[in-house]
Amino acid sequence: MHHNIEGKVVVITGASSGLGEATARLLSAQDASVVLGARRIDRLRVLADELSRRGGKALAVPTDVIQCDQVKRLVDAAVQTYGRIDVMINNAGLMPQALLERLKIDEWNQMIDVNIKGVLYGIAAALPHMKQQKAGHFINVSSVAGHRVGPGFAVYAATKYAVRALSEGLRQEVKPYNIRTTVISPGAVATELPNTVTDPQAAERIRKFYAEVAIPAESFAQAVAFAMSQPEEVDVNEILFRPTRQEV
Ligand SMILES: NC(=O)c1ccc[n+]([C@@H]2O[C@H](COP(=O)([O-])OP(=O)(O)OC[C@H]3O[C@@H](n4cnc5c(N)ncnc54)[C@H](OP(=O)(O)O)[C@@H]3O)[C@@H](O)[C@H]2O)c1
Repeated sequence: MHHNIEGKVVVITGASSGLGEATARLLSAQDASVVLGARRIDRLRVLADELSRRGGKALAVPTDVIQCDQVKRLVDAAVQTYGRIDVMINNAGLMPQALLERLKIDEWNQMIDVNIKGVLYGIAAALPHMKQQKAGHFINVSSVAGHRVGPGFAVYAATKYAVRALSEGLRQEVKPYNIRTTVISPGAVATELPNTVTDPQAAERIRKFYAEVAIPAESFAQAVAFAMSQPEEVDVNEILFRPTRQEV
């Protein structure tokens, strides 16, 4: 038995690859019920089927986090199927880095919509249930870029600073409802994230950087499991981790 993970109902956005998928695998192996949201429903179904075949409980729900009603439907599906929601992992995100002078305005909007508004919609969907339960746990995904800014990632960093600000405000507001709030800020982790970079110069720099330093997605899943597995009275608010070989 895994303390405080077994039997929990966990909703994960961005579960079709990378950090979300690795977290679904680890938590399912530790007997949590996982409810998987992302746009690529085919990948979610393959994952849910695999976890179910291994004896886990998993549900795939097509979800675009820029649509508030779709995020609500994802969370409501968890409550309808498993009776409650214990953990909401607001993980979906993208990182199309480029210098501001490239004026990639569509990508700025997309990052704001997915990385910030998507997290807010996740809060909007899960908070009413958690308030009623007088229990719950938000795990929001920021980044090392939520702690420092550099050329080429001003907008991405702005969205990840926003995730930390929202999470801290949420943390303070949900005290009466016995809800925990964790922000996890990973360094370079090997996922499909670099594929979201369209600017050729930035893409080459990032692929090289990830090839040199990135660590497996399991590292993030272990951080989630650590925060979840604390006694309910212990609220781990921030986890910042990097590959040991990552300097910046
Ligand atoms: N990997 C890293 O080094 C790193 C470091 C710091 C922070 N992060 C953060 O970690 C989170 C997960 O990224 P990752 O590294 O696992 O990258 P990834 O492998 O590219 O996964 C991103 C996930 O987000 C989902 N997604 C994107 N847009 C979406 C939308 N509109 N609606 C629903 N889901 C959407 C994708 O699913 P669909 O395409 O199927 O919708 C995918 O499942 C992101 O917030 C990222 O900023 C990653």
